[in-house]
Amino acid sequence: EAIEKGGYEHFMLKEIHEQPRSIRDCFRGRLNVEKGWVGLGGIKDYEKQLANAKRIIMVACGTSWHAGLVGEYLFEELTRIPVEVEYASEFRYRNPIISEEDIVIAISQSGETADTLAALNLAKDKGATILGICNVVGSSISRVTDAGSYTHAGPEIGVASTKAFTAQVTVLTLMALTIARNKGTLKESDFRRIITELDLIPEKVSRILDKNEKLEEISKVYKDASNALYLGRGISFPVALEGALKLKEISYIHAEGYPAAEMKHGPIALIDEEMPVFVIATKGTSYEKVVSNIQEVKARKGKIIAVITEGDEQVKGMADHYIEIPETDDHLVPLLATIPLQLISYHVAVMRGANVDQPRNLAKSVTVE
Ligand code: G6P
Repeated sequence: EAIEKGGYEHFMLKEIHEQPRSIRDCFRGRLNVEKGWVGLGGIKDYEKQLANAKRIIMVACGTSWHAGLVGEYLFEELTRIPVEVEYASEFRYRNPIISEEDIVIAISQSGETADTLAALNLAKDKGATILGICNVVGSSISRVTDAGSYTHAGPEIGVASTKAFTAQVTVLTLMALTIARNKGTLKESDFRRIITELDLIPEKVSRILDKNEKLEEISKVYKDASNALYLGRGISFPVALEGALKLKEISYIHAEGYPAAEMKHGPIALIDEEMPVFVIATKGTSYEKVVSNIQEVKARKGKIIAVITEGDEQVKGMADHYIEIPETDDHLVPLLATIPLQLISYHVAVMRGANVDQPRNLAKSVTVE
């Protein structure tokens, strides 16, 4: 097992550090910046149908559902196709309205999650086209789907999903870009800009991983917290959900992710000097609004740990702690902002003496209802 961990103390830490490579592996043969090209061989025959789709439904559970939420922002923004993201367990028991015109995309690391598989089979029975985004080659979901794209993240052993999530988001980005290209919903210059930035993501992830020591310091400060709040807006809202899930899964600290503006409709009542509030406050469309959300937290003496764009002096001055991440295109922020949150959850869990790779009551793959 020590050999399998490749010198890391836990599988989760190894998998977090594999992300520059796993994201790069996910691009392989699918992205060519010089030629200005993206493509996903697995769904080639469905490209036209995807471009003409009236709506797309994504079904998933857990972390994969969060990847779906990022996908919703990407698809709607880049392709202008309406997307619904469903918990597979809810979808399957709701007598969902699906027709032959619909495309249902299942997102699953293992490809074995019982609810996701059942949701897909239901959609198939109703005549929808079913596609998959899976990590495990030859898994049940990858076999039942009409077509799909593998994430190529390699085996993920830690129960808390890390590299599978960023690979899922990468595939969803490539898919959205492919469809946008075919539909003509994205200007050539924007397309070129995004794929150029996408190609730089692995190197930028490495730069964030280099901040491990600072992240460990921050973790020390908050390791005894009983609660934590994670806030983000737009495409960073699912990042907040995923940050909270990572913390609760492995450290057993109660954590909630919220769209930053919804804070005033409930969670603000919980804020006092004991409450760490993680905020994704990178430069971009909602930046100013997130800055005012931070002020609201500070006014109530909450502690701010902000994920910011490199060199952002304004939020640096307001936050109790900050983590700088390299600048990137707005659409790609989740691929970077997730990384420090994974590492903080990891360190907090280790400091609390928790079993990081196999947290209590959780399974890597939930093959029963
Ligand atoms: C379990 C795992 C999670 C995972 C979820 C969905 O709860 O602990 O890490 O996100 O199942 O799994 P899937 O294999 O379908 O992505």
